[in-house]
Amino acid sequence: MASSTAKGEEATEFVENSPKRQNKVGRHCRRFWWVWLIAFCLFVLVIMIIIVYAILPAIAQKEIDKTVLNLHSFTILEPSPTSLLLSLNSTITGAGGIAAHAHLEPMEVIFFLENHKPIQPFMSLQLPSIKGGDAVPVIVTNVTTKITSVPALTEFSASLLGSETLRVAIRGRTTLWAGKLHTKVNYNEVVTTKGFNQLKGMEIEEYSLLNQTRQADGSNLAGKVLIPNPTVFEIQLGDVHINMSLNGQALGNGTISGLHIRPGNHTYDFRSRVQTSALIPLAAALGSGNPVVLDVRGNGTDINGVSIPWLAGPLSLLDVKVPIKATG
Ligand SMILES: *[C@@H]1O[C@H](CO)[C@@H](O)[C@H](O)[C@H]1NC(C)=O
Ligand SMILES: *[C@@H]1O[C@H](CO)[C@@H](O)[C@H](O)[C@H]1NC(C)=O
Ligand SMILES: *[C@@H]1O[C@H](CO)[C@@H](O)[C@H](O)[C@H]1NC(C)=O
Ligand SMILES: *[C@@H]1O[C@H](CO)[C@@H](O)[C@H](O)[C@H]1NC(C)=O
Ligand SMILES: *[C@@H]1O[C@H](CO)[C@@H](O)[C@H](O)[C@H]1NC(C)=O
Ligand SMILES: *[C@@H]1O[C@H](CO)[C@@H](O)[C@H](O)[C@H]1NC(C)=O
Ligand SMILES: *[C@@H]1O[C@H](CO)[C@@H](O)[C@H](O)[C@H]1NC(C)=O
Repeated sequence: MASSTAKGEEATEFVENSPKRQNKVGRHCRRFWWVWLIAFCLFVLVIMIIIVYAILPAIAQKEIDKTVLNLHSFTILEPSPTSLLLSLNSTITGAGGIAAHAHLEPMEVIFFLENHKPIQPFMSLQLPSIKGGDAVPVIVTNVTTKITSVPALTEFSASLLGSETLRVAIRGRTTLWAGKLHTKVNYNEVVTTKGFNQLKGMEIEEYSLLNQTRQADGSNLAGKVLIPNPTVFEIQLGDVHINMSLNGQALGNGTISGLHIRPGNHTYDFRSRVQTSALIPLAAALGSGNPVVLDVRGNGTDINGVSIPWLAGPLSLLDVKVPIKATG
């Protein structure tokens, strides 16, 4: 039966556009429709595989790499030798193409100073799920963060206090979802942010001499000190102890109690004890009409009596020139 059909068709083989040939093609298609269906499905599958495994990851990664993290505020509260309470207010901009409509699953990111080789993270942070869009807020409030490396965090604080600007790298890995498709992406970002620039601009705005015998802590000089903070960082520094000297001569010590430094120019109360032997030279300098500039160096910081080495160390390395502006 099959062979006779084949013979009959052979005769019409070279007749172009004959209705018979169209019949033959039609019949072929009808008979082998399942072959075409399987071929079509395989074709779709191959395209999907190419999209999902080759094109999507590459495109998604490229779009993620184009995004920019803008830091609005970075708050460090309740510092301890092992942890801190972190809040972050930031937005991600520049999400185009697929990233504009995709979302990222929650991820853990690490923070490290960009120029530190090899990479040594000073902390890690769990970020919430991030939606796609124009300016996507990434906000984290009061997350207790374990310090991953005290030496690395100390280096970060030193860089934050000492530099005009610093570059902090943030790195994580998560899943990007575009509709029902998903792929793994790396989050690699470097934020350039302002540092405290060695606390330049600190200034004693107000002071008064105290009768030492009436003060429980033995202070004889107290007042208000301006501490400029050009950064987006807000830091609870605790009770900051300072050494003061004048023209290379030790003057005494002081404390800025409960220092919680906020962005902008703010003044904070300080109390100090000037050595009796240094009182007369200091008074003479202040009375001379010439500018008087103290050298101030951190000598430890603690919260409720607990010392915070990763803040104290960097503070003790800064030699801050603090002019006395006001007359007492
Ligand atoms: C985050 O910062 C933006 C811009 O400074 C501000 O408008 C917004 O209120 C802040 N959000 C939070 C939760 O602090
Ligand atoms: C975050 O913690 C600080 C210090 O414990 C607290 O004063 C503040 O109210 C908390 N903020 C929020 C939004 O819970
Ligand atoms: C300081 O206070 C003590 C005790 O109240 C008093 O005896 C002393 O005269 C005061 N000294 C000055 C310089 O006012
Ligand atoms: C500096 O700190 C050390 C250790 O806490 C302390 O022994 C010393 O008295 C402090 N120096 C001054 C001038 O306060
Ligand atoms: C000065 O140092 C002494 C000894 O370390 C300490 O008892 C005192 O509280 C310090 N004074 C201030 C104002 O920091
Ligand atoms: C803080 O003071 C410095 C120098 O006096 C000034 O350049 C800066 O603009 C001030 N910053 C703010 C936020 O007022
Ligand atoms: C502060 O002064 C004390 C005593 O004069 C000294 O032992 C200490 O090393 C000084 N601290 C710093 C950070 O210079």
